[in-house]
Amino acid sequence: MQTQNPFSPDFGTPPEFFGRERYLEIMRSALRAGSRSNRALLIEGVRGTGKTALLGRLRALAGEMGWEAVYVTSTNAAKELAFDITRLGAHPHVSSAGLTVAGFGASVGLEKSTPALSSLRQVVLDHLGTSKKGLLILIDEMQKIDKDDAQEICDALNAARESSNDIALVMAGLPGTHAHLETFEKCTYMVRARRFFLSPLSVSETRQAVDSAFGKIEGLHVPAEVRESIVTFSSGHPYLIQLIGAEVFERALGAHAARGETVTVTNEMVEEAEEVAYAEYARNVLRLVFARVGEGTRAYLHAIIETMDGQGVMRSDRSIAEALGKRSYRSIANYRVRMIEAGVLRSVAKGKVKFRIPHIPRYLAEGLPEMVDDFWDADDDFPMS
Ligand SMILES: Nc1ncnc2c1ncn2[C@@H]1O[C@H](COP(=O)(O)OP(=O)(O)O)[C@@H](O)[C@H]1O
Ligand SMILES: [Mg+2]
Repeated sequence: MQTQNPFSPDFGTPPEFFGRERYLEIMRSALRAGSRSNRALLIEGVRGTGKTALLGRLRALAGEMGWEAVYVTSTNAAKELAFDITRLGAHPHVSSAGLTVAGFGASVGLEKSTPALSSLRQVVLDHLGTSKKGLLILIDEMQKIDKDDAQEICDALNAARESSNDIALVMAGLPGTHAHLETFEKCTYMVRARRFFLSPLSVSETRQAVDSAFGKIEGLHVPAEVRESIVTFSSGHPYLIQLIGAEVFERALGAHAARGETVTVTNEMVEEAEEVAYAEYARNVLRLVFARVGEGTRAYLHAIIETMDGQGVMRSDRSIAEALGKRSYRSIANYRVRMIEAGVLRSVAKGKVKFRIPHIPRYLAEGLPEMVDDFWDADDDFPMS
């Protein structure tokens, strides 16, 4: 068995990118010559839905389509963009700002603020004036962008668009980013961006991802029903796929070390892996999502979970108000709206909702699983009495 784990549950760039064909297709058509639509996008989603990974893939896609792309997070975004765009134009040895830059290796050591003497607007216009390529700007963690940065970036983008150059913007942030951007005047460029909540992978994309990643591990046999249980447990959430995959791999490697030869993944291994994956996911995602959700909203969620069908569809209508002992439907409608805005629920039909991310019913019922200390050694430990 190979010893390199093809799964990586760290946040950010994955070793293998799964699915997202729908989003990639939108970007492909947006970047096509002559297109003017979808050139400003805002992707929202709770932590771990795959926003950063998607931005990374979109950046690579832009390159494949002959565009240049720069990726920054919202911290000092205008300065960082000015720096990175200047560096795009930098020929070896001399950058467009006149700095001596001996390729990428030496430029890393430069103070990031050095070339930002001219405004971002000027940097963008200068760059587009000389470059024959379109420019895709990707900004992550947009929920934290400050007003001055947002305004400077909008100003630059407006100027670039007026001179009819190829420019596109993709932003990603936690749910609520849109509301944050709306508080900035003069930044319609960002406010009018087409807004998505990042969905999980589709069922077929998830099957493909699991087949492909496990298929790369030599000497590991993963029976079809085991793969299917991983698909079901992950519900297409890429972070869960990475978590379960990594845990299954570790267990299989352990079995290989003990017995050698080809290892078959057992249901038992997968069940153990799922418990560890759930615990990590609950701690790193669900705990944060529900940190500030009050009792009223929790009671509402418990009530709608009672109505869940086999497709995960729940009722959020008058009957829920009744179940909660409220007289009007209005009194519960706010909970629904708030949970939709928080990226927890999606509306699938009139009065019908679904969760956007998996394992919420379990989390609401059980909370965080207890962390048992692996390092406890009963035979060699003080009693601490
Ligand atoms: N499309 C994908 N293919 C493979 N792995 C992914 C994909 N999207 C996310 N991941 C993995 O899931 C985890 C969380 O993704 P990340 O992009 O960091 O989430 P977010 O930025 O929304 O918090 C990371 O380990 C990342 O590598
Ligand atoms: Mg991220």
